[in-house]
Amino acid sequence: MYRTNTCGELNLSHVGKNVTLSGWVQRARDLGGMTFVDLRDRYGITQLAFNMDKNAELCLEARKLGREYVIQVSGLVAERESKNLKMPTGEIEIIVDSLKVLNTADVPPFTIEDVSDGGDELRMKYRYLDLRRNPLKQNLMLRHRLAQEVRRYLDSKNFMEIETPVLMKSTPEGARDFVVPSRMNQGQFYALPQSPQTLKQILMVAGYDRYFQIVKCFRDEDLRADRQPEFTQIDCEMSFVDRDDIIETIEGLMKYLFKTVKNIEFKDAFPLMPYSEAMNFYGCDKPDLRFDMRFVDITSIAKGKGFGVFDNAEYIGAICAKGCSEYSRKELDALTDFVKKPQIGGSGLVYVKYGADGSIKSSVDKFYTPEDITVWLNAAKAEKGDLLLIVCGPKEKTLKALGELRLEMGNRLGLRNPDVFVPLWVVDFPLLEWDEESKRYFAMHHPFTAPVDEDVPLFDTDPGKIRAKAYDLVINGVEIGGGSVRIHSKDLQSKMFNAMGYTQEEVDYQFGFLLNAFRYGAPPHAGLALGFDRLTSMFAGLDSIRDVIAFPKNNAGRDVMLDAPSVIRDEQLKELGIAVVAKKE
Ligand code: AMO
Repeated sequence: MYRTNTCGELNLSHVGKNVTLSGWVQRARDLGGMTFVDLRDRYGITQLAFNMDKNAELCLEARKLGREYVIQVSGLVAERESKNLKMPTGEIEIIVDSLKVLNTADVPPFTIEDVSDGGDELRMKYRYLDLRRNPLKQNLMLRHRLAQEVRRYLDSKNFMEIETPVLMKSTPEGARDFVVPSRMNQGQFYALPQSPQTLKQILMVAGYDRYFQIVKCFRDEDLRADRQPEFTQIDCEMSFVDRDDIIETIEGLMKYLFKTVKNIEFKDAFPLMPYSEAMNFYGCDKPDLRFDMRFVDITSIAKGKGFGVFDNAEYIGAICAKGCSEYSRKELDALTDFVKKPQIGGSGLVYVKYGADGSIKSSVDKFYTPEDITVWLNAAKAEKGDLLLIVCGPKEKTLKALGELRLEMGNRLGLRNPDVFVPLWVVDFPLLEWDEESKRYFAMHHPFTAPVDEDVPLFDTDPGKIRAKAYDLVINGVEIGGGSVRIHSKDLQSKMFNAMGYTQEEVDYQFGFLLNAFRYGAPPHAGLALGFDRLTSMFAGLDSIRDVIAFPKNNAGRDVMLDAPSVIRDEQLKELGIAVVAKKE
């Protein structure tokens, strides 16, 4: 028997008991007469005590233990003299009477403490050591707990967990595919699923009216803090439902998770916000509603006073920063620089300081009287002590820049508290997006997304204006999930493919299998997928999803521990009928 107990469970109630523990040496402290060793396993840390007077030989052995040695000890649980009440095991120690080294360890390349001295890449290379650290362990425990609760809840609602293949055909989620060559069908390739979208729809045709799967998805796209090339979805699909049924079901799941895992209760329904409102008042399709600072359109009231920049602008928008009228020149310059960054895209920043004493100071004093500016302040419901920040230019670009500025101000003012959660549903997305480069429409969600009924005639007149029966779940400015009601009629699906400029040949080649299935009685159906990594990192209060994934890829899409991707042997290439024409150094 390697152990009678774990390193996280012994306390005063066990005093006097003989126990055996196994684990890793966190550290050893030699205090002359006594040597203490912290023994760690997944469950916690227990202090081991070796007494030079009582057992010199054993104590000398203990002094030789290196960090991360794997050991087994037996001894008596005793009450500690100096207690550490911050640890669950901090009131006891083990008076060791036997010690066995199960394995030695090289000196680890970084300290395995809550705050480590190792850089990102080093910790990724030695991920198994990093995973020994508490913060990562807690993240993985949270992930496990969430997965179990998701299964428990969906099972209780009659959902069936059904696995779908990883070797499949290209799926229409808009990213590049990862492909896998087939040895048995030379020159042909599987695509890894960007999501199980088509298969879950086929499962609806097959009659499995409530499906879910916690499933890996693969997308070859540029990586960011909230994007990995392989990530996990909680994928759901339901038959005989409409938008509001999905919203209600998923909201039920989210409320259950918040309650059971974080003890946070949401009494009210999550609000619905049309896409157009999100874009016009928050400058993005995933507004962070932990704080207000909605945009105020001052285009019509700010034009026509001889200030060329405003007069020539398509759109002039303002946000009101509460209590910021005392911002210094330096702070305002920094905000101007922020807005002008290429990735933000603003051309400049105009400010109005509405002083606590009622004074009005602005960077456009030359062109506007205090009365003119008071009109803007009123429109923005500004109060004394507030600061108005104004950006102008082409509408779409300016809304985006103002959206970034709003988030920046939210950060500066500490309004984006990770312990506060504000969910909403963004609905009524456009069905189609015009791509200037290829001069054609693309599906904003995917080509099986149903249009809003009353917008269907627009297919013939103005496809860009059609709204989709699509919905995103957004929490704290993060797109946690997305889905839609699907098209289940052949005619409507044809209209959609036509609008996207697909030839019949392309449709048959890419989606023939699905359209075939639809000929045999496709029920009305709808679904949604939640980003499980994003959900977990949000529950953990983290910005990056990497920290909630056991073995993530780095920003270049590499697994630095496995050293993947890597070249393969020539014989392997030959078997697959593949010749590599260009290698990246
Ligand atoms: P969508 O593409 O919106 O929808 O994906 C659903 C959710 O998955 C998460 N997500 C990601 N997480 C980490 N890394 C990525 N690269 C990544 N890409 C997406 C997001 C997103 O909201 N088949 C549809 C769902 C449906 O229509 O039912 C789909 O995949 O949180």
